[in-house]
Amino acid sequence: MNKVNTVSIADANLPIGVFDSGVGGLTVAAALRRRLPHETLLYLGDIARLPYGTKSPATVERYALKAADFLVARGIKMLVVACNTASAHALAALTRAHPGLPILGVVEAGAAAAARLSRSGTIVVAATEGTCRSDAFARAILAQRPEAKVSQIPCPLFVALAEEGLTDGPIAEDMVRHYLAAAFDVPEPPDCMVLGCTHFPLLTGALRRALGHGPLLVDCAEAVAEQAEHVLAARGLAANAANSGGLSLIATDATDRFARMAIRLFPALGEVPAVELANL
Ligand code: DGL
Repeated sequence: MNKVNTVSIADANLPIGVFDSGVGGLTVAAALRRRLPHETLLYLGDIARLPYGTKSPATVERYALKAADFLVARGIKMLVVACNTASAHALAALTRAHPGLPILGVVEAGAAAAARLSRSGTIVVAATEGTCRSDAFARAILAQRPEAKVSQIPCPLFVALAEEGLTDGPIAEDMVRHYLAAAFDVPEPPDCMVLGCTHFPLLTGALRRALGHGPLLVDCAEAVAEQAEHVLAARGLAANAANSGGLSLIATDATDRFARMAIRLFPALGEVPAVELANL
């Protein structure tokens, strides 16, 4: 039985823990840094176990619990699950394991944004195989908008393209057409596409060039950052406005590569600090 560690106002200056299977969740870290500049983020990229998207639900749940235990042991005031696959398979288990800690998942945040923003209610979700199989997005969108028509399309190779830094150019655009062109080549195409994997916003340029500017792209990173701001404020957990905030990076393997990718993909993060190696 886990000890209930309830986070209190005294913990407001602890970091926010964020994890993903790789660099993709840095899209969430970047959104959190933009929206909450006084907060310190502790980011764990579990690249030793990447990809999560092709693994079974039980395995993803086990990985997610390990990542959360690691961050909780460091001391955090909130956990942001910056991986849709882990949000889809492990959010309930994470909440059971850490009942006193506010835990936010990207699926719920992205689904709420799509349900609100789509005009026609015809929504396509691009995600990993695991997230699509879980039906988590369809359930979350339909719970808020029962008349919506939701299709979910697995795009597993987008993860490899993003981890490889191949986010733009003909290969990325061909891949976008390969997975997604058919979904839009119908009489009533979706007006909204959820980027249901935190790696996918990195391919926004290729998505736009291959699909045109028609569909609204919903980025779960922005949606979860907005939710984090509300929850911190509601619980009196927002960091002191005098704090300058920051980002610490931890990876479970290949720290040099992780640092190179982080700098290349997120120049806006500024100087990327040394990446710590963690053995989970
Ligand atoms: N970035 C993760 C997500 O949001 C998955 C990538 C992977 O397959 O590990 O689903």
